[in-house]
Amino acid sequence: MNKITCRATSNIAFTKYWGRIDDTLRLPMNGSVSMNLEAATTTTTVAFDPSLEADTIHPNSLSLKDKQAARVFAQLDRIRQRADITTRAWVATHNNFPMGAGIASSASGFAALTVAAAHAAGLDLTERELTILARQGSGSACRSIPAGFVEWHYGETDAASYAEMIAPPDHWDIHDLIAITQSEHKTVGSAEGNALVTTSPFNSTRVQLAQQSVETIRAGILARDWTAFGEETEREAIRLHMVAMTSVPPIFYWKPVTLAIIQAVIAWRQAGLQAYYTIDAGANVHVLAQAADADTVAARLRAIEGISDVLHSLVGQGARLLEAHLF
Ligand code: PMV
Repeated sequence: MNKITCRATSNIAFTKYWGRIDDTLRLPMNGSVSMNLEAATTTTTVAFDPSLEADTIHPNSLSLKDKQAARVFAQLDRIRQRADITTRAWVATHNNFPMGAGIASSASGFAALTVAAAHAAGLDLTERELTILARQGSGSACRSIPAGFVEWHYGETDAASYAEMIAPPDHWDIHDLIAITQSEHKTVGSAEGNALVTTSPFNSTRVQLAQQSVETIRAGILARDWTAFGEETEREAIRLHMVAMTSVPPIFYWKPVTLAIIQAVIAWRQAGLQAYYTIDAGANVHVLAQAADADTVAARLRAIEGISDVLHSLVGQGARLLEAHLF
């Protein structure tokens, strides 16, 4: 029984993925750009075992809810089909960040699962092929396979919608201070939110602006242009939430403290502290800072009422295989 373990990080998108042209293949309406988050990882061990009658979540694993387990098994099916095998698998998985803290685990989870399972099934895939497979499990997962700063290319076919590194982790020392404002799982998952985008009258405007956003963010990262990068990151985050809030039915991911953090960051900037915010499909706020300002930003966030914790993340590596297994 060939056991393989992979660790992958979560990622935070600057130009976001929100809306799909193909739900089955998970082809997004626009390209996106992110950085990996070294502080938020999933470790996953997979072993294909001929004695198993069904795919099984190993007891050494946090219990996955039924819906999540079904998506994990569907991803194993894709890998089996590719490898031309029918053997069932053991899967164990562990997040190093608190489950239910509102930090998306699908990106790190499906990246780690895809790479571990592909290797365990004997597939010899390129990084690009792995990103395409991971994307079918969960869109944002494709961006957690390459290292550092990553672009997921817009493409209208399975083969054209892949992710690749723009710059390695040591290219730019960006810190992400993640203000945890919710202790429960969000009420509307990103899959449901994604499915509603076309009901918003502003979706087409956002999609039109998204390609330019990708160019601006990519250029800002490559030139280490903090202001150009930060300003576009904030605008794009607001565009995502504008689409969510104007979807039918509307989705309000924010809590009052979310807006309080936005306003605080703007006020800090006016007073000279150069931080920028971005927000995924939830109430948590990611505050981005350069190295010299990171501790100040973290301390100021901790002083805001309604923030239960602040996670401090550096730019992460790509998905990597580990020697030590979870079972
Ligand atoms: O891949 P999912 O279903 O976790 O979608 C993620 C969507 C956002 O986090 C809101 C944006 C993004 O690009 O990561």
